[in-house]
Amino acid sequence: METNSLSKRLLLFLVAVQFGCDLISCSVTYDGKAIAINGRRRILLAGAIHYPRSTPEMWEDIIMKAKEGGLDVIETYVFWNVHEPSPGNYNFEGRYNLVRFLKTVQKAGLYAHLRIGPYVCAEWNFGGFPVWLKYVPGISFRTDNEPFKRAMKGFTEKIVNMMKYEKLFESQGGPIILSQIENEYGALDKKFGAAGYNYMTWAAEMAVGLRTGVPWTMCKQDDAPDPIINTCNGFYCDAFKPNKAYKPTMWTEAWTGWFTEFGGAVHKRPVQDLAFAVARFIQRGGSYVNYYMYHGGTNFGRSAGGPFITTSYDYDAPLDEYGLTREPKYGHLKELHKAIKKCEPALVPGDPTVLSLGTHQQAYVYHSKFGHCAAFLSNYDTANATRVLFNKMHHTLPPWSISILPDCNNIVFNTAKIGVQSTRMTMLPTNSQLFSWQIYSEDLTTSDEDSAFTTFGLVDQVNVTRDASDYLWYTTSVNIGPSESFLHGGEYAEILVQSTGHALHVYINGQLSGSAFGTRENRRIRYKNNIKLRSGMNQIALLSVAMGLSNIGGHYESWETGVLGPVILYGLDHGKRDLTHAKWSYKVGMKGEAKDVVSTNGMSSVEWVQGSLIAQKSQPLTWHRAYFNEPNGNEPLALDMHSMGKGQVWVNGQSLGRYWTAYATGDCRRCHYNVNYRPTKCQAGCGRPTQRWYHVPRSWLKPTGNMLVLFEELGGDPTRISLTKRSMTSVCADMFESHSNTTDWHTESNGKTQVIRRPKIHLQCGPGLLISKIKFASYGTPTGGCGTFQKGTCHAPTSYGVVNKRCIGKERCAVTISNSNFGQDPCPNKLKRLTVEAVCAPNSRD
Ligand code: GAL
Repeated sequence: METNSLSKRLLLFLVAVQFGCDLISCSVTYDGKAIAINGRRRILLAGAIHYPRSTPEMWEDIIMKAKEGGLDVIETYVFWNVHEPSPGNYNFEGRYNLVRFLKTVQKAGLYAHLRIGPYVCAEWNFGGFPVWLKYVPGISFRTDNEPFKRAMKGFTEKIVNMMKYEKLFESQGGPIILSQIENEYGALDKKFGAAGYNYMTWAAEMAVGLRTGVPWTMCKQDDAPDPIINTCNGFYCDAFKPNKAYKPTMWTEAWTGWFTEFGGAVHKRPVQDLAFAVARFIQRGGSYVNYYMYHGGTNFGRSAGGPFITTSYDYDAPLDEYGLTREPKYGHLKELHKAIKKCEPALVPGDPTVLSLGTHQQAYVYHSKFGHCAAFLSNYDTANATRVLFNKMHHTLPPWSISILPDCNNIVFNTAKIGVQSTRMTMLPTNSQLFSWQIYSEDLTTSDEDSAFTTFGLVDQVNVTRDASDYLWYTTSVNIGPSESFLHGGEYAEILVQSTGHALHVYINGQLSGSAFGTRENRRIRYKNNIKLRSGMNQIALLSVAMGLSNIGGHYESWETGVLGPVILYGLDHGKRDLTHAKWSYKVGMKGEAKDVVSTNGMSSVEWVQGSLIAQKSQPLTWHRAYFNEPNGNEPLALDMHSMGKGQVWVNGQSLGRYWTAYATGDCRRCHYNVNYRPTKCQAGCGRPTQRWYHVPRSWLKPTGNMLVLFEELGGDPTRISLTKRSMTSVCADMFESHSNTTDWHTESNGKTQVIRRPKIHLQCGPGLLISKIKFASYGTPTGGCGTFQKGTCHAPTSYGVVNKRCIGKERCAVTISNSNFGQDPCPNKLKRLTVEAVCAPNSRD
């Protein structure tokens, strides 16, 4: 029911007072239905784009694509550790230029949701906290602890003041309509008892006290105190209700896919299911949806959280890692957004009437007093399509789908029927060769002045490195008597090393003896292997490698990393020798790091050797350097690193991130949209390297002589690294014939609704590309997906001819899906589809 306008205004006033703003400056308010901007309730569609995960040169394009995709709001976390690398030293430059990012959002005419955190989780190193924070005396993270609260308040205030200074809050005429404090604290809050609750309420009060003039949110915080809005995160949020009737129902993280870990498969989320989840949330009264992620981007440098989060944070998002539209995900959601926006006038005034249309079918019908009517017809049956009767008309609803009727009569969108094309993106070779390969091998001899310190026993890695490097050497010496029998043809000596992760390389007398790796689920490593010792002094050097610090878990700041032991030698004549408490020396990082061999001005600091002089390319712990010119064109670029092992890679001194050719294990056999989604239900890339390509932003390049440096831990063949460009190679369309005589398909032209009884497929190659070939065409019952289509038992023989005629040589084409267009019905009484894959090639006339 619609709230009468007097009580509505009173409510807005009360909410405004609670935010700590007066009515004049408080332009963003809320009530039980929605966020209201300047008094107007809105259904808001938002998307997460994290500014450090792309380059400033990419921001405008990504944000404009988000706008084009039908979004109103851009959401980002604020990443404390990039902004305050050491206490009191701030960095808001380049990729960390938050103000520039928000002004780009504003320029695009969009709003922003600033999730300050400052705990962000986000698969980001240390969950966004600076590592130095862990060493503030007496600190304990995210609980009722004075040093922590002081630091958290300091950073939150710093950001809020910066935003105010730049007039970025909506109350000041800026784009920020919402801010978030903390992140998914609910579960910890319960675990930490009173200290958790006190901290959470303190955080809420602290935030509100900053008087931003816009509402604050807390996600996954059922008991968020007023006036903070508690919100939902998840794959589905339709069952969620905020903790007070006067708060709107908001979904701050609608997961569009999932993150990837090295050694794991890549997770995909079918767009039909994502659209279904969003439509289901809106039909039940939700008024704010934020896609997490809308553009995932790249974990450049050592920003990936962890351990083992890949450098790519693609997330199967509507915009891919490189900022290109991912079709059909992007286009299908865009159609969904259009349909939702058409319903907005009917949605925002009040509550729906819910009608049952069958066992698993419902209609949600919204009316406004101005005569608007919108309906959502849903079929929750995961297996069967169903014909329902609504408003005197029959409609067929595919399984696990929702149809949207913005006028209660015509279906303009169904979540399971994809009307837009899919595109196939391929990493193609470029005209750019890597040349002048050179090598610099890490020198493994250590002298005392190289070592940070020497002590008895094994210590936590991060305590020593302070995360200045991924690498820490643990080195000790062992004296072996000349009479040991393993020296005289007896058994081998063996070493056992236990580490809390994340990766370990064992060196005996300067030679690699072996390596071991943890996993994200079990970071512990147990390395046991035969080793070659000699009579006299032997050096045992353990290289422990961190692969991103934990970003989630109760008090993860106290978790230790590195070789904590035991370290034991076996096979000696007197049994075992425990080295755990021996004298160990510690050295942080690689020599190449200390000598800054990656930077363009650190060039002469070490002796590089010409690659051609090196017979063995695959030595471990080796730096490689080469040069390349920028490839033509404007397609995004990536390095193909499949010939390498594990390490880090830089271009012109900028770190592209960690690479690792770990092969993906998982079950990639099935992927159906019509299931209750979990990331394991739809995986790709099994048996292949989890991540093969590493994004090289074009803006980091100059026309000629770009310097590539990589540090390889294991060995590999750098001469097989190549620079590739991400290109659209084919487009696919796949659509059912209209299977009811109701008016299923619509377009709008000149503002009028035009009913099209026969659906069409539309194909379009990218700018400068034409359809050069029809790789597959079938009107009938084809199977498979884009790139793997196959004829089914029913196939119209005219399929290729009809599609060829309409499409070859064109930049775009449309083909009607009807029996008459294909000569005759190839299989009467069967539901048919038209499926096409068309190859795109450069327009030779250009
Ligand atoms: C959420 C968290 C996000 C991100 C996501 C997984 O629980 O709030 O920051 O970590 O999980 O990608």
